[in-house]
Amino acid sequence: MTDSTTQPPASDPSRNPRILILGSAGQLGRELQKSFADFGTIVAVDRESVDLADPDQTRELVRRVAPDVILNAAAYTAVDRAESEMALAHAINALAPRVLAEEAAERNALLVHYSTDYVFDGSKQKPWTEDDAPAPLSVYGATKLAGEQAIQDSRARYLIFRTSWVYGPHGNNFLLTMLRLARERDRLSIVDDQIGAPTTSIELARATHAIVTGVLAGSFGAPQIWSGLYHMTCAGSVSWFGFAQAIFARASGQFGVNAPELTPIEAKDYPTAAARPRNSVLSNAKLNARFGVQLPSWQSALDEVIAHLQARSGSE
Ligand SMILES: NC(=O)c1ccc[n+]([C@@H]2O[C@H](COP(=O)([O-])OP(=O)(O)OC[C@H]3O[C@@H](n4cnc5c(N)ncnc54)[C@H](OP(=O)(O)O)[C@@H]3O)[C@@H](O)[C@H]2O)c1
Repeated sequence: MTDSTTQPPASDPSRNPRILILGSAGQLGRELQKSFADFGTIVAVDRESVDLADPDQTRELVRRVAPDVILNAAAYTAVDRAESEMALAHAINALAPRVLAEEAAERNALLVHYSTDYVFDGSKQKPWTEDDAPAPLSVYGATKLAGEQAIQDSRARYLIFRTSWVYGPHGNNFLLTMLRLARERDRLSIVDDQIGAPTTSIELARATHAIVTGVLAGSFGAPQIWSGLYHMTCAGSVSWFGFAQAIFARASGQFGVNAPELTPIEAKDYPTAAARPRNSVLSNAKLNARFGVQLPSWQSALDEVIAHLQARSGSE
C-alpha cells in the first residue's frame, strides 16, 4: 500500500479528500493514480495489501483508510477463465462491490466503480444505452452485472462507468498482445464480426478525474441528480480486425515489429471459452449530457498510447 500525501491549495476544500484506489497495479488503477495525484491524499492498494475476494479484509481496509472517495479499478478480468472460476469471479466482481457500497454508504463516501459492455448480449444494431436490458453471455458479464446491481441497491452515492475494450501502455491488453504476436509470427487472423470502442485507461482516468472533481465541487448538483450508471468509452467504433490494422499502421517499423499479414475471420472460427457480444458499442450520450464529458475518438486515443510506448522504448 502506498500513501502519497501532497498539500493542495487550502482555499479549495473540495481538493482535500482522501482517495482510496483499489486495483492499483491494473491498467486503469495505474492511470487513476497519475490522474488523481493532484488530490490531497491517495491511498493506492494492490492485491498484496487486500484480497477483495475476502469481504472481511475489504471492509477492514475501507474502515482503516476512511476514504471520502473510493475508486474501484480492481476486478476479476480474465473473461475466459471466469467460465471455470465462477465463484472467485463472483466474489471479486459482485460481492466486493456490495461490501464497498455498504461501507461507502456508512461513511457517506463516493463510490466510483467500473463495469463492462459484456453485460449486453450484443444483439442490438445501434449503440447500447443505459436503459437497454442487460443479458450477459458470459460468467464475467454476469458477475459484473451483479456488481452493478449490488451498488445500485445500496444507499451509497455512486458512479458506475461501463466501458469497453480497455487497453493502455501497461498490462494485459489487445494492443500489447498484437505487438508481441507480430514479433513471433508473419500472419495473424483477427475477428472481424465483433465491433466495439477501444478505450484507453488514460482517457478513462482523465474523464473520471474531471467528473469526480466536479462532483466534489458541487458543480453537478445534488447526488440524486448525478449518482448513477453511465457509459464511458472513446468515440467511434471498429472491429477487432480494424483495430489491429490501425495498430500496425502506427506501430510497424517500431518496437521490433513489422506489420504481419492480417486475415479477417469470424468469431465462430476463433472459439473461446466465453462468448462475446457482436455489438459492444455503448452510447455515451448520457455521460455527455450530465457531465459535459466526451472522450476523444479511439484513433486519437490510440495515437497517444503509441506515443507513450515510443517514449518508453526511446528511454530504454
Ligand atoms: N480490460 C478490459 O477490456 C475491460 C473492458 C470493460 C470493462 N473493464 C472494467 O474496467 C475495470 C478496470 O479493468 P482493467 O483493464 O484495468 O483490469 P486489470 O488490468 O485486469 O486490473 C484489475 C486489477 O484488479 C486486481 N485484482 C484482481 N483480483 C483481485 C483481488 N482478489 N483482490 C485485489 N485486487 C484484485 C488485479 O490484481 P493483479 O494485478 O494482482 O491480478 C489487477 O491489478 C474493471 O472493472 C473491468 O471489469 C475492463
